[in-house]
This record gives sequence, C-alpha cells and structure tokens, in this order.
Amino acid sequence: MYKLHCPVVAMMTITLTDLLVSLCGSHQHPSGRYTCNISLEKRFADCKGLHLTQMPIGLHSSLEELDLSSNALQGIREGDLSNLTKLRVLRLQYNNISVIEDQAFQYNTLLEDLNIFNNSLRSIPAKALEPLSKLRILDMSNNFYTEATLPDIFSTFTQLKILSMGGPLIPSLKKDDFWTLQNITLEKFAIKSASSLLRYELGCLKFIRTTRMWFDVALDQRPDALPLMLQDLANKSFTELRFRNLFEFTYYTGKEDLLQGLKHIRMRQLVFYRGKFNENLLRMALVNLQNSSVKSLGLLFIDFARSPTFVDSGSDSSVTNLVLDELFLWDISNPDILRFDWRFTWFSKVRRLSIKNVNFNFVPCDAWNEMKAVEELDVSNNRLQDEYIYNKRCDYKKTLPVLSTFNVSKNQLTKLRDVVALVGEFKNMRVIDLSYNQLGSSEITNLENNKCNWKQNFTKVILHHNNFISSDLSCLPINVEYLDLSYCNLDHLDMDYFERVSNLKELLLSDNKIKFIPSGWSNPTLQSLTLDGNSFGLISMGSFKDMPNLSNLKAGNNPYHCTCDLHTFFQETAVKGKVNITDWPENYRCYHPESFLNLMVAKFSPGSVACDIRLVVIISVATTATVVLAIMLLCYVFNVPWYMRATYQILRAKYRAYQEGSGLSQEFDYHAFISYSHSDAEWVRDQLLTYLESSNPPYRICIHERDFMPGKWIIDNIIENIENSRKVIFVLSRHFVNSEWCNYELYFAQQRAIGKTFSDVILVVKEPIDPESLPNKYCKLKKMLNTKTYLEWPKETKQQAFFWAQLKSVLGKPTFTRDQAASTRNRNSAAAVSTIELPLEDELVSQSLPSEHSSTATMEGSVLSN
Ligand SMILES: *[C@@H]1O[C@H](CO)[C@@H](O)[C@H](O)[C@H]1NC(C)=O
Ligand SMILES: *[C@@H]1O[C@H](CO)[C@@H](O)[C@H](O)[C@H]1NC(C)=O
Ligand SMILES: *[C@@H]1O[C@H](CO)[C@@H](O)[C@H](O)[C@H]1NC(C)=O
Ligand SMILES: *[C@@H]1O[C@H](CO)[C@@H](O)[C@H](O)[C@H]1NC(C)=O
Ligand SMILES: *[C@@H]1O[C@H](CO)[C@@H](O)[C@H](O)[C@H]1NC(C)=O
Ligand SMILES: *[C@@H]1O[C@H](CO)[C@@H](O)[C@H](O)[C@H]1NC(C)=O
Ligand SMILES: *[C@@H]1O[C@H](CO)[C@@H](O)[C@H](O)[C@H]1NC(C)=O
Ligand SMILES: *[C@@H]1O[C@H](CO)[C@@H](O)[C@H](O)[C@H]1NC(C)=O
Ligand SMILES: *[C@@H]1O[C@H](CO)[C@@H](O)[C@H](O)[C@H]1NC(C)=O
Ligand SMILES: *[C@@H]1O[C@H](CO)[C@@H](O)[C@H](O)[C@H]1NC(C)=O
Ligand SMILES: *[C@@H]1O[C@H](CO)[C@@H](O)[C@H](O)[C@H]1NC(C)=O
Repeated sequence: MYKLHCPVVAMMTITLTDLLVSLCGSHQHPSGRYTCNISLEKRFADCKGLHLTQMPIGLHSSLEELDLSSNALQGIREGDLSNLTKLRVLRLQYNNISVIEDQAFQYNTLLEDLNIFNNSLRSIPAKALEPLSKLRILDMSNNFYTEATLPDIFSTFTQLKILSMGGPLIPSLKKDDFWTLQNITLEKFAIKSASSLLRYELGCLKFIRTTRMWFDVALDQRPDALPLMLQDLANKSFTELRFRNLFEFTYYTGKEDLLQGLKHIRMRQLVFYRGKFNENLLRMALVNLQNSSVKSLGLLFIDFARSPTFVDSGSDSSVTNLVLDELFLWDISNPDILRFDWRFTWFSKVRRLSIKNVNFNFVPCDAWNEMKAVEELDVSNNRLQDEYIYNKRCDYKKTLPVLSTFNVSKNQLTKLRDVVALVGEFKNMRVIDLSYNQLGSSEITNLENNKCNWKQNFTKVILHHNNFISSDLSCLPINVEYLDLSYCNLDHLDMDYFERVSNLKELLLSDNKIKFIPSGWSNPTLQSLTLDGNSFGLISMGSFKDMPNLSNLKAGNNPYHCTCDLHTFFQETAVKGKVNITDWPENYRCYHPESFLNLMVAKFSPGSVACDIRLVVIISVATTATVVLAIMLLCYVFNVPWYMRATYQILRAKYRAYQEGSGLSQEFDYHAFISYSHSDAEWVRDQLLTYLESSNPPYRICIHERDFMPGKWIIDNIIENIENSRKVIFVLSRHFVNSEWCNYELYFAQQRAIGKTFSDVILVVKEPIDPESLPNKYCKLKKMLNTKTYLEWPKETKQQAFFWAQLKSVLGKPTFTRDQAASTRNRNSAAAVSTIELPLEDELVSQSLPSEHSSTATMEGSVLSN
C-alpha cells in the first residue's frame, strides 16, 4: 500500500475508505510490500530504495517531484509517466535502466531536473529528451555509452545549467562531441571517460562554456592529451576546475611539462581530487600556477610519492611566487608532500594554509620561517607531538608575524606550556584551537618557575576534549573572550582562575564532572555559560547572581535535586526570561529525590506553599491554634475532662481493690444502694429507708451517711458499695443534678465496668425535673426520663401505696445470702464514718480533683458529716 495521506481515511468505514483511497491516488503495488512516501499535499513522492522493478502505477497527477532512485527499474516506457504532467523533478539514478522509450517523457514537458546517473543506457536517449525544453539539470553520466557525442537536440536546452555526462566505456573525446553546446552557458559541466582515455581530439572542449568544470578523465595511457585539453580551455574563465583521478593507476614519469597550459586559464580554484601525484608533477603544477589567476589550490585524497628523478637545481628552481588565498592539503596518505623541494617556499605567499590529515608529525625549523604570509594555519588531524611542534632548537622569533588563527586540533600534544611558549612568538595570534589533544594530564604544575605566559590577548581559546585537572587551569590565559573547556574531565571549578579572567564573554564547560557551582562566582563580563552534562545537582538564585551580564545559560543533563531552590531558580530565570536557558526544558530532569527520578524539572512544582518559609510558619502556627481551639471547644461541649476524671477514678478504685485483694463477689451485701443529694436526705431517711427497712422481711439498704466504710476514700466507698448492692436507686431532684457526688454515683452505676447493667438502675423522681435541663453527660438518664422508665414519688398519700408496691417489685424479694457479720460491721461503724473520718477524705478528694471543684467537694463533705 502506498501511504495514505488523507487525514480522514482512518476514521471511515471500509467502503468509504475504498472510495477515498482512490481519491488519494494510493494503490496496491504488484509486489504488495513497499510503500512510497507521499507528502501530504501530494506534490512529492519518495519511492527510493524499494526494490521496484516496474514504475508504480496510479501515482497522483499532482506530483511535482518523484524519487525512484536505487530501485531495479529496467526501463521507462511510453505511458509510465503520462499522468504526471506537473512533474518537475525526476530521480532515476541507481537503477538498471537500459531503455527509455522515445515517447516516455512526452507529457512531462515541465521537467526541469532529470537524473539518470548510474544506469545501463547504451546511448543517450535523444528522442525521449526532445520534449524537455525546460531542463535545467541533467545528470546522465555513468551509463554504458560508448561515445560522448551529444545529440543535436541539446542545442535547444537553452535553460540548461548543470550537465553531467559520460561513462566508463567512453574511450575517446572527439572534436565535435560537444559542438551542440556552443551557444549554451552552463554553470557546471562534468565529463567522465573510461578509466584510461585513449584519444583526445583537439577542439573538443572549445565549445564548452561553463563556470565550473569537472573532469573524471584518467590519462594514465595518454598523458599527452592533457596539454591539448588545457589548450582548448585557454583564455576561458572558470570559478573552479577540478581533475579527478588525473593519473589513476600510475605516476607520471615523463619529462614534458604537461601543465604548462594552466597559466593561460583564468580560474579561481583548482582542485586535484584523488589520483597519483609525484614530486615532479607537483612542481609542474606549482611552477605554472605561480603566474596564474588561481587563488585557491586543493590537493585532496592524493596519493603522493617522492620522485627519484626529482632535480633540485638550487634555490632559483624553487616555487617562491605562489600567491594563494587558500592552499588545502587534505587527506594525503604520505606526509612527504610537505618535503617537496625541502624549502617550503611554496607556502610563503599563502594566506590560509590547511594541512589536514596528512599524518605529519614533525615541522622542520625552516618551515616556520617561510610561512610569512599565513594568517590562518590549520594543522588539525595530524600526529604532532610536543617536541616536534615546539622544537627548542628552532628560533621562532619573528616567525608567522601575521598568523591570527592556529588550529592544532586532533594531534598528540600533552604540554600546554610548550604550546604557549610557541605561540607567544606569533605576534598577531587571536584564536587557537587545541581541542582533542592530551593536554593537561601529564603536566607537573610548578607555578613558581614555570608560569604560562600568554603574551597576546586571545579572543578565542578552544581546549575541549583534553584532560585538564583543576590545577592546570592556572596555565590558561587571563585575557580571553571565548574559552571552551568542554569534555576536559574537570571535577571542580578553580575559582582562583575564574575570578581572574577579566574579559571573558563566553565560557563553555559542558560535559565535565563538575560537582558543584560555587556560590558567589563573580564575573561581570560573562554573557554566555554552558554547564550541561556535568555532575552537579543544585543551582539556585545565588549561583549566578554575580554575573550581571549573563544572558545565555545551558545547564541541562545534570543530576538535578528537585528542591524549592531549584524550582525558584528556573521560575525566575527560564520562565521570566531573565536569562535565556538555551536547552530548556527537554534536558532538565530530576535525579533526586527518587520519587521524582526522570521527572522533567519544568513539571516539578512543589507549590508556592512548600517553598515559602514564611508561609510554612504561618500555616503551621494557624493549624496548631485551630486544633487547640477545636479541642477546647470539644471539651467544653462534651464535658471531656469530667469523663476523664471519672474513668480515672474507676481505674484507681479497681487498682486499689486489686491491691487489697478483694476479688469480685457474685453476691451482694445490700439489696440496694441509694444515691441522693443532701437536700433529699430527710425524705430518704424518713420515707424510703423507713419503709424498705421495715418491710417484712426487711431490705438491706446502703446509704452513704450510714454505711460507708470509715477510713476509706470516698470514691472507693461509692464504687465498692455500688458493686456490693444488687440495685442502685437514684433519688432524682433538682438538687441531685447539681451534686458532684451524685453525678459520680450515677456515672459509675452506668458503667458496665463495675458490674451494673441498665436494669439494675432504678430512678425515683422525687420532684419533677425537665429532662432537657440535664447536662449532656446524663444522656442515658435523659433517655430513661424521656421513656418514662422511672418511678415517680406521688404527692398524694393515697397513691403512695402504689409507689411502694412498684418499688418493691423492681427491687425483687429481699432474700439474702451474704455473711451477716459483714453487714453488721458496716452498719455499726456508720456513725463513726460521718463524724470522724470524712473531713480527711474531703481533703484527699479536693487534692485529687481540679481546684474548681474543691468547693463542691467541701460542701458535700459537710453534708456527709451531718
Ligand atoms: C516520509 O517523508 C517525510 C518527509 O520527507 C519524512 O519525515 C518521513 O520520515 C518519511 N517516512 C518514511 C517512512 O520514509
Ligand atoms: C492514469 O490515470 C488514469 C485515470 O486517471 C488511469 O486510468 C490510468 O491507469 C493512469 N495510468 C497510469 C500509468 O497510472
Ligand atoms: C541489469 O539488466 C541487465 C539486463 O537488462 C541484466 O543482465 C543485469 O544483470 C542487470 N544488472 C543488475 C545489477 O541487476
Ligand atoms: C553503478 O553503481 C554501482 C555501485 O556503485 C557500480 O558498481 C556500477 O559500476 C555503476 N554503474 C555504472 C554504469 O557506473
Ligand atoms: C549558435 O549560434 C550561432 C549564431 O547565432 C548559430 O550560427 C549556430 O548555429 C548556433 N549553434 C547551434 C549549435 O545552435
Ligand atoms: C588567448 O588570448 C591571447 C590574447 O588575448 C591570444 O594571443 C591567444 O592566442 C589566445 N589563445 C587561444 C588558445 O585562443
Ligand atoms: C610571472 O609574472 C611576473 C610578473 O607578475 C613576470 O615577471 C614573470 O616573468 C612571469 N613568469 C612567467 C613564467 O610567466
Ligand atoms: C579546527 O579543526 C577542526 C578539525 O578539522 C575543526 O572541527 C574546527 O572547527 C577547527 N577550528 C577552528 C577554530 O576553525
Ligand atoms: C590586552 O588587553 C589589556 C586590556 O584588556 C591591555 O591593557 C593590554 O595592553 C593588551 N595586551 C596586548 C598584548 O594587546
Ligand atoms: C554588560 O553588557 C552591556 C551591553 O551588552 C555592556 O554595555 C556592558 O559594558 C557590559 N558590562 C560589563 C561589565 O561587561
Ligand atoms: C533570549 O534569546 C532571544 C532570541 O534568541 C532574544 O531575543 C532575547 O533577547 C534573549 N534574552 C536575553 C535575556 O538575552
């Protein structure tokens, strides 16, 4: 399937999809496996490298660009492209096309760019090209043409700018091959022949009018063709003349100066690319170029060899007047090219000298002296070592007087100090690139007698990919504007140095191992700082505050600790734009704490609350105050302190009971315990007690006035006697509710903890009370009162008999099993209780209760003592 670019297709039903597919011009390829990449607006189709053996059919007619390169197409048939009437660019290179039918392009008259490079055509498809009058670019080289003659039709391609032709089977270039181009001005013309040209007819190249000319013509067997070719080019102007594989397999050993013709050609740039060159041939070239207009000479990927026959006839034979803007010697396997004629005079009028990847490791003293005009020297990618580039026996004084840029990148230097000593002699130095060396690592820093003396003010010092340790920084220049110390293994910043650099505008420290950014790092001139790929986790507002001119910062790929400081920093800088953080936000991720691992720092927002210490204080104070207030309110509403005191009393009593070893008895001393307030005491004694104790058989009743055990704490007495009574009678009146002790008694009676259940409680309402007026802690009492499960003392005497009957029925029969002696003792000692012992108990109680209750307790004490 061809890739669909209808955005809606995916959402449609199958039938609708089919319909739209045809609208989109997509279809199934016979092989069914490959997909052309068709641009959204269907103007470009990329069918590159799909192993297609036939033209894809059904391509949309709006296509303007079709790339069918690197397939297995055999031919272009009539009709293959008939629908593509808007086609402007057609790429067919790297197929196996041997046939292009005459009518193949008849509907593609807009075609401007046709590439049929590297196919199997045996002849130029003149008929097929006929309709293509708009052709601007035609690359049809590297086919199996047997001759280079351009058909007449080419004279009509008046728009043609770039023409590339020829192939490996062309043995000769004939006089009239390019005749049809005589009225056409090209920008680039490239011609390829068999790897060894057999014949060149004078006049062949005369018809070419172009600004750039590329030859891929090897002259191993016919070197004498070269002077003829240059003769045809004489008086022509080129911006570039390029010879590829001029001698492909053999070195030229002839005596004749083949390159004499060069000086009659006007050209800016001459390039020899690949092929074999020896000393003699190089000299022929250089000598002839001395008086030519060439400004730029390149020898690229040359296979160079010394000439055994090279004749050095003294200094007058030297090349001394080679005036060039640029001389490139790149990727030459043999460094001997630099020893050409041993005098280096050919460098003397070169402004930019670039000797890259030539494997040289040694610079003779003479060479430095010769490079008088060199402003830019690039010796990167060689094998230069310290002692060979800085030879202490050479005199560097006044050498390289105009050198301003020196590129020694990718060599084997280890001593920065030596480099500094060397360039110190080059008066005009501004930029030095020492990247990819091994500087720093082996230097023994001896500051006292070996200080690095950078004599000039550098604008740019590039030192990335070296092995500095922090103390090496003392050898770096102080007056520098741009300093690159990336990839240098630095693990901390030597502030001694960084505080001294006075004019630094741009500092690169990417991909070191810097573990922290010292606070108070001050640099008023710094504008751009990169710190990405280091090992620090914290930066904060304080980090760069002493760099007032800092406008660009790059600090991604560090193991950030996502804290408030960090958050604030990025809020203030990245978001508000005070500093441009150039790699924000993709490369900023949290490393710590673990829960935020890999979270983007931009998405880390601890919230303003967590990050503002004043807010934190205010909030915690407010919260504490609220909680305290709430607790106080709860205590007030629900009488919590009272319950706590009561529970405490029960626990204390239980504990004491346990201490005294009095285990719980299932039997009771009394039939009932009566709880009442002192104001009801008279009624209890006269009415209740009298009646119950005089009934037959009598009930045994416990009241505090009489039956409490002397010498025992009053609370214990209450609890013990409630426990020892089968039932508890509460005499309810308004006074009852107000009595502290009665409250306790009621509370204890309610607590299952001391063995009373609800049914053991009898309420006697002596005078009516409003249940709603009771405090909340008597919730059960209120409930009982509300459900009328109580006995009411009637005022009417007649009704009182009924009351007694009721009371007796809830008390049950006064059967009795407990030892008589015990109860007797209790009763006998009752008088003593109230008169002698209680005041002492009072004091104890009032001490054990909060002071505000002591008055009530005292009052109760006085009641009891009656
Ligand atoms: C298709 O083309 C677009 C734009 O040229 C490119 O981004 C995309 O990667 C291509 N897809 C394939 C599968 O080649
Ligand atoms: C050209 O287009 C017509 C209709 O648009 C179609 O029938 C025909 O198959 C197409 N031809 C090719 C070679 O794609
Ligand atoms: C190219 O096609 C020819 C037949 O036209 C065939 O003999 C040859 O093997 C093909 N070459 C490649 C590389 O497929
Ligand atoms: C086409 O390219 C292939 C691989 O680069 C090469 O082997 C073949 O010789 C080239 N064909 C021509 C005609 O140059
Ligand atoms: C080039 O132009 C000249 C003069 O206009 C004409 O005589 C000649 O035939 C033209 N050459 C070609 C190949 O068209
Ligand atoms: C180049 O021009 C010069 C004078 O301008 C002339 O003497 C010489 O013959 C010309 N050379 C060729 C090959 O046309
Ligand atoms: C080169 O040019 C100079 C003047 O620019 C001239 O004196 C000298 O003779 C010329 N040499 C050759 C070989 O043409
Ligand atoms: C120095 O040479 C290296 C490698 O050729 C290159 O990448 C670098 O940009 C050059 N430095 C300067 C300052 O031109
Ligand atoms: C370097 O710059 C400083 C001021 O930044 C200046 O005083 C000094 O003269 C300059 N040195 C050279 C060699 O240009
Ligand atoms: C900071 O930058 C401004 C403008 O770019 C410049 O005028 C000023 O001199 C700089 N300050 C320092 C201390 O370099
Ligand atoms: C940040 O960069 C943008 C464009 O790159 C620029 O317009 C802006 O002035 C810069 N801001 C600062 C503070 O340098």
